[in-house]
Amino acid sequence: GAPIEVDLTPIAEGQDVKVFWRGKPIFISHRTKKQIEEARAVAVSSLPDPQSDQARVKEGHDQWLVVIGICTHLGCIPIAHEGTYHGFFCPCHGSQYDTSGRIRSGPAPTNLPVPPYQFVSDTKIQIG
Ligand code: FES
Repeated sequence: GAPIEVDLTPIAEGQDVKVFWRGKPIFISHRTKKQIEEARAVAVSSLPDPQSDQARVKEGHDQWLVVIGICTHLGCIPIAHEGTYHGFFCPCHGSQYDTSGRIRSGPAPTNLPVPPYQFVSDTKIQIG
């Protein structure tokens, strides 16, 4: 698996795209202010897998969430923009993830992982 570059310019605010890296689906979400606020309003210590939203995004690029789109329960692919927490919903057994990709309810034990990536410009990331 070579690293891939993704141009973020076509992804409008409030939209998500799915790309593939090393055979894995990667969700890239261009979050709205409301989605960021929702992710930051929750007490981190109350989460099943406590992680701050800030720790899951790149500083100065808070609107971009990049996660591996594989449910941490049994590996189904969650649906973006669905569910109680408006993040990701896994239709297999009902895990609900929030707008930071963190598990909030259901059988999944951990948050959707953040793949290794970096911003190579303001509008382009390299994954891997
Ligand atoms: Fe997602 Fe079971 S695989 S909830």
